[in-house]
Amino acid sequence: MGNNLTMDMLVSLCKRRGFVYQSSDIYGGLSSAWDYGPLGVELKKNIQEFWWKEMTRLHDNIVGIDAAIMMHPRVWEASGHVENFTDPLVDCKKCKQRFREDKLPDENRKSKKCPDCGGELTDSRQFNLMFKTFMGPVEDGGNLVYLRPETAQGIYVNFRNVVQTSRVKVPFGIAQVGKAFRNEITTKNFIFRTCEFEQMEMQYFIAPEEDDKWFEYWKKERWEYYNKLGIRQSKLRFHQHGPGELAHYAKDAYDIEYEFPMGWQELEGIHNRTNYDLSRHTEFSGKDLAYLEEGTNKRFIPFVIETSAGLTRTVLTVLSDAYEEQDVAEGDTRVVMHFHPIIAPVKLGVFPLVKKDGLAELAQKVELDLRGDFATFYDHGGAIGRRYRRQDEIGTPYCVTIDYQTKEDNTVTLRYRDSMEQVRIKIDAIPEFIRKADKEYRREK
Ligand code: GAP
Repeated sequence: MGNNLTMDMLVSLCKRRGFVYQSSDIYGGLSSAWDYGPLGVELKKNIQEFWWKEMTRLHDNIVGIDAAIMMHPRVWEASGHVENFTDPLVDCKKCKQRFREDKLPDENRKSKKCPDCGGELTDSRQFNLMFKTFMGPVEDGGNLVYLRPETAQGIYVNFRNVVQTSRVKVPFGIAQVGKAFRNEITTKNFIFRTCEFEQMEMQYFIAPEEDDKWFEYWKKERWEYYNKLGIRQSKLRFHQHGPGELAHYAKDAYDIEYEFPMGWQELEGIHNRTNYDLSRHTEFSGKDLAYLEEGTNKRFIPFVIETSAGLTRTVLTVLSDAYEEQDVAEGDTRVVMHFHPIIAPVKLGVFPLVKKDGLAELAQKVELDLRGDFATFYDHGGAIGRRYRRQDEIGTPYCVTIDYQTKEDNTVTLRYRDSMEQVRIKIDAIPEFIRKADKEYRREK
């Protein structure tokens, strides 16, 4: 069967199986806002945990923080976001739709005609992407706060706190996962670009003269990370930012791009932010953010290599990459999600072959005993083949079936999602078997 994945196919699966729903659905929906359902929230949490482990616990010099979303408004003046974090927008005078001028097709940009209705477009204006709100009961300028458009600034303003309290020494990193908000003009690409999203960012503080070395190091690490996450390498590529693309803080930047159903798009940015942010916060706060190097007594403002991945965008990547429609037998097809087992929302399905003769009770006991170790799902509804298909469609990597032989010798059949092969193993051996299979997992090409 063809595998020309479209965004509509993904949206439909996500809704049908409870990965992602349109926000405020019963009110007609809020465009570009999405809610994560029972399976989506597990998938997102598993990706976040995997990133956290890879970026903090597996390094001896990277620590985490969790900063507040709302920060002092001066932070955003210092960071340059008040001045520079803008998109050029145009409005259609006829249908009133708003577009990003730099994303319009060439012909529409030149002719100043609306791509939807052909109406006349206004001149472009710079529009700041930060959401504003007011802290406290009075809505005046003195109470203005922004919802953070990146998590990175929460790390920079805590640089001094972390250096003083956690014995880290340059080079070291601070990692954070959290919500970010941008008042974007979103296109119809599901959770790819939303106004509210989550980022997984790590800022690596280094001696200025070592920036090239660490930039290359993190480019390699982050590429390898997607390999470990099970993303097909043929669907990934690097894109270096040209001078016109570089953010206001960056000296050099590479995107890791993924080939989504709508084409190649950014998944993660790796940036050499120099000492721009710490210098600006030194200037605007009046606090000295220089680092004193032990031994040499050299004082300097560290450079920063940033790795910035979208968590919600990684969910879309993982969903797109996992989806396959397969012909499995004459006239029989299945949808299978090839999630890497370490992030699958359900790790193990447990079924009795039939409900009678005590098999259901036995299967329930097996499932209960495994709950502490794995995300399990018990199912006795319908033919066994249908139960397997339902788990394939949500990417459950292993299913065990309890049958009459189980009563005799305490063995079960364990079925692999990708190959559909079955092996017979002892009930006691299930946890170890799964841990080993997880480690050895390789997606078939
Ligand atoms: N701190 C640097 C920074 O924020 P960015 O390239 O603007 O850099 C980093 O964003 C990542 O955050 C992107 O690669 C993308 O994965 C994610 N991201 C950015 N804007 C997003 C949006 N509107 N919706 C979903 N994810 C977004």
